[in-house]
Amino acid sequence: MPPLLLGAMKSLISWVSVRQVLLIFLYLLTILGITFFLQLQSQSPHQGQRIPSPSDPQQLSPTDQGIWTVNSAGRLGNQMGEYATLYALAKINGYQAYILPEMHQQLAPFFRITLPVLSSDVVQNIPWKDYELHDWMSEEYRHIEGKYVRLTGYPCSWTFYHHLRQEILQEFSFHDQVKEEANRYLAGLRGQHQNVTYVGIHVRRGDYVQVMPQVWKGVVADKAYLEKAMGYFRAKYQEPIFVVTSNGMEWCRENIDASRGDVYFSGDGKESSPGRDFALLAHCNHTIMTIGTFGIWAGYLEILQEFSFHDHIKEEANRYLAGLRGQRRNVTYVGVHVRRGDYVQEMPMFWKGVVADKAYLEKAIGYFRAKYQEPVFVVTSNGMEWCRENIDASRGDVYFSGDGKESSPGRDFALLAHCNHTIMTIGTFGIWVGYLVGGETIYLANYMLPDSPFLKIFKPEAAFLPEWIGINADLSPLWRGRFG
Ligand SMILES: *[C@@H]1O[C@H](CO)[C@@H](O)[C@H](O)[C@H]1NC(C)=O
Ligand SMILES: *[C@@H]1O[C@H](CO)[C@@H](O)[C@H](O)[C@H]1NC(C)=O
Ligand SMILES: *[C@@H]1O[C@H](CO)[C@@H](O)[C@H](O)[C@H]1NC(C)=O
Ligand SMILES: *[C@@H]1O[C@H](CO)[C@@H](O)[C@H](O)[C@H]1NC(C)=O
Repeated sequence: MPPLLLGAMKSLISWVSVRQVLLIFLYLLTILGITFFLQLQSQSPHQGQRIPSPSDPQQLSPTDQGIWTVNSAGRLGNQMGEYATLYALAKINGYQAYILPEMHQQLAPFFRITLPVLSSDVVQNIPWKDYELHDWMSEEYRHIEGKYVRLTGYPCSWTFYHHLRQEILQEFSFHDQVKEEANRYLAGLRGQHQNVTYVGIHVRRGDYVQVMPQVWKGVVADKAYLEKAMGYFRAKYQEPIFVVTSNGMEWCRENIDASRGDVYFSGDGKESSPGRDFALLAHCNHTIMTIGTFGIWAGYLEILQEFSFHDHIKEEANRYLAGLRGQRRNVTYVGVHVRRGDYVQEMPMFWKGVVADKAYLEKAIGYFRAKYQEPVFVVTSNGMEWCRENIDASRGDVYFSGDGKESSPGRDFALLAHCNHTIMTIGTFGIWVGYLVGGETIYLANYMLPDSPFLKIFKPEAAFLPEWIGINADLSPLWRGRFG
C-alpha cells in the first residue's frame, strides 16, 4: 500500500453493512452523472477564475512521446478527476502527459502529483487537437490519435483509471506538511477529551443550491439530513467531534446546531481552501457528505481502501475455495453472483427490465468451460432455490455456496472476490466484485427497455469496464407483457 491519502481515514463503510455500501455506490454513480451535467451548467464561472501561471514551470523539449494535456476546469474534485483521466489515457495511448499551470497551481500545494507542468508559453505555441471526453471509459479512448492532444470535459468516472488505482492513490497522497497541519488542527479540537472520534462533514452549497432544484429536481442536503447523520454518530461514539467544511459556511452556522460543543466550523467559520478542507476530511475517522465530486473522491478512495479484507475473512475464503479443488491440478475459480430477491418482481414492474435467466447463465458458464481447463463455479445468490433448479450442476464443476442456503452478503462478497473470474447478473454488488477481482467479467447487458426510468440514473457505460463481456438479456418476456 502506498502512503494512502486516507491513511487515517476509517471509512463511512465501517459503520454500514455491505448492502448499504452498495447502495452508497449506486448513489455515487448517480451523483456522478448529475455532477457531470451540473458542471456543464456552471462552466462559465470557473473559466473566470483563471489563476496566473507559476513563474518557474518546467521547461520541456517535445519528444516523440508527444505532449498530452487536459483542460483545467472546475473545483478541486473535478481537477482531480481530470488529472487522473489524463494520467490513465495518456498511458494507454503511449504518450507523455503534462498538466497545465492552472491545474498544477490547484493540486500541487496538497498532493504529491508527479506529472510535469507545461509553461504558459509552450501551451500557447502548441497546435492542440482538442478531444472532448464523455464521463465514462470507451473503447475508442484506447486509440486516440495525435501528438498534441488536449482532453476536454469533466471526466470523473473511475472507469477511466480504476486499473491504475494504486498509482492514482499515490498521486493523490498528501505532502507531509499538509498532513501535519490537518493533524495539528484535529488535535487542537480534542481538548480534554480522551477518546475522540472525528467526523468530517462536507456540505456542498454554492451554485448547487440554485441549480439542483431548478434543473435537476434534486435537493441539496438539508438540516434534517445533517441532524440525522450527526445523531447516528452521537449515538454510536463516546466523544464524537464534528468538523464542518463547506463553501456555504453561513448557512452551516445557521442550520447546524453547535450548542453541544462538539461541532467545529473549519477555518473559523469562513470558507477556507478546498485543498485544506479535503485534507481535513481525509484525516477524520468518518465522513458525512452531501453532493458533488469532492464527496465522490472521498467516497471512491474510501471504498477501495475498505475493501482490503481482514485476514480472517481472507483465510476463510481461501480455505473454502481450496476445499472445492479436489483432485484438480490446474483449477480456475469463477465466482457466479445471481441477484434475485426483490429484483425479480421489481425489475419488470417498476424498471421495465428483466433479471438473469437460465439461458444467460448457461451461456456465461459455457464461455468459461470452453476457455479454461478445469473451471470451478462458485454460485452465490439471495435466491438459491432458483439457482439449484436452473443451473445444471451435473458435470460436477458447480458449487452452491453455503450448501445451497443463503449466506451472509459479506461472506459471499469475500468468496467472489477471491475467485479468478466473475459472472455477475445485475446489481452493484456484482459490479464491485468485477472491479476487485480484475479477471474476466461477464455481465448481463441491455436488460432494460430503452424507456426504463432506471436508465435515467444508471449509465451502463460508466459502470461496466469496456473490457468486460456483456451478454444481452432476453427482453421478450417484457414485450409479451406489453403487447400480449
Ligand atoms: C472509546 O470509544 C469507543 C466508542 O466511541 C468505545 O467503543 C471504546 O470502548 C472507548 N475506549 C475507551 C478506552 O474508553
Ligand atoms: C481517528 O483519526 C485520528 C486523526 O487522524 C487518528 O489519530 C486516530 O488514530 C483515528 N482513530 C481511529 C480509531 O481510527
Ligand atoms: C492450466 O490451464 C490453463 C487454461 O485453463 C492453460 O492455459 C495452462 O496451460 C494450464 N497449465 C498447465 C500446467 O496445464
Ligand atoms: C485463482 O484464484 C486462487 C484463489 O484465490 C489463487 O490462489 C490463484 O493464484 C488464482 N489463479 C490465477 C491464475 O490467478
